[in-house]
Amino acid sequence: MADVTKTIGLSLGADICWPIAFTEILKRMDLAIPVGGDEVRFEVERMTIDPFDLREPKKYDVVVDRLTHWYHTRREWIKKAVLIDDVYVFNNPWSVQSVEKLSAYAGMIRLGFPIPRTWLVPPHSYEPMDDLEYTLQTYARHFDLGAIGRDLGYPMYIKPYDGGGWRAVSRLEDEGQLRSTYDQSGKLVMTLQEAIEPFDHFVRCIGLGPQTHIVRYDPKAPHHDRYTETRPEEFLSDDDRKVIESTTLIINAFFGWDFNSCEMLHQEGTWYPIDFANPCPDSQVTSTHYHFPWIIEANLRWALFAAATGRTVKRIDWDAFIRKVDPEMTLMERIDILMPVVHERFDTPAFEDFCAEHLSHLHAVTHEWFGTDDARDAVRRKVAAVFPPHEVDEFTELFFSRVQHWRDHNPVEEA
Ligand SMILES: Nc1ncnc2c1ncn2[C@@H]1O[C@H](COP(=O)(O)OP(=O)(O)O)[C@@H](O)[C@H]1O
Ligand SMILES: [Mg+2]
Repeated sequence: MADVTKTIGLSLGADICWPIAFTEILKRMDLAIPVGGDEVRFEVERMTIDPFDLREPKKYDVVVDRLTHWYHTRREWIKKAVLIDDVYVFNNPWSVQSVEKLSAYAGMIRLGFPIPRTWLVPPHSYEPMDDLEYTLQTYARHFDLGAIGRDLGYPMYIKPYDGGGWRAVSRLEDEGQLRSTYDQSGKLVMTLQEAIEPFDHFVRCIGLGPQTHIVRYDPKAPHHDRYTETRPEEFLSDDDRKVIESTTLIINAFFGWDFNSCEMLHQEGTWYPIDFANPCPDSQVTSTHYHFPWIIEANLRWALFAAATGRTVKRIDWDAFIRKVDPEMTLMERIDILMPVVHERFDTPAFEDFCAEHLSHLHAVTHEWFGTDDARDAVRRKVAAVFPPHEVDEFTELFFSRVQHWRDHNPVEEA
């Protein structure tokens, strides 16, 4: 039996708390997993930013990436590592690069999901470039913004086609607001979208590999209170949960995203996905607090499964999904026919067997670690990075106490 070490690279930006939790819990698990005659151990390394040779030797088996969506040097490193070295990365970097909010809507419209009616309008102004004037003079037609507004109705939302973090999102009440907001939108390429209002529930569902976690979200609360502690069984039926979880996993498998979150609004019996191209979803304890240990556990399970089994990035395969659906199907029929494709893409049965066989102590280790002073200190370090000094004690205690609620609600079962 050979000793093999698999290396998990953490590609980090302003991530402070979760890499500590990930690393410490993995250390405490002290894993040595038999795989195909070898004994596999794991190490974690924080990736640094360096020049790289395209032909450098392989350093990592799996990369948990938090940087690719804005730091292009890392993105190009990851693409070459996938192509040359078979490195597994969450998420498919080509998909992260090319699928924005608007094309994600398009994919789900094609699969028959209830995406709110959405228009795209050309930008109000442009970066000067050589061919611009000729192109616009020849082909850009005057359009009637007011007519699009009347088509969608008010209130409506205007937001960038490639949004994130509520940047440049406005709720519009009338044509005057539509015109003035568009006139101030500069070079942004904007979408106009029918408002799903009033809605009775707002959820954010996190997907990590084939695992899901539903959070009731309060968009009006201050940042640190938006992820509520309400548990799904308190406000969702089994069918609601099935629709939310399946929609999230179908989106993720369709686009090649391992780690993504899907925002959905519920109105008159329908769950509308409104924002689901978020392939670097919030992982900070300062916003996810109560849910943070779930993210750590799920992240470890998926990273360890990928590393131990030599998982490689799959090609995007839209057709595998598109050919399953036809226009007459109800949403539940679509979900039932698409979920086997999802599970095939994520290798869910093999993942579940792996977790049952090798990671059955993960929850106990996580539960224990999140009760330690080390965990409190990790929370404090993130809080200190984002809150003013006089609020650090108060918010450390707030977030740490919410993590303790998670421990109370998710006890370790006796073996
Ligand atoms: N069609 C819509 N109906 C109702 N609320 C919306 C709609 N689109 C956006 N919103 C509100 O605006 C917020 C930001 O829009 P979203 O599409 O999530 O952008 P971002 O990618 O910046 O998070 C949402 O969380 C929601 O509160
Ligand atoms: Mg959003």
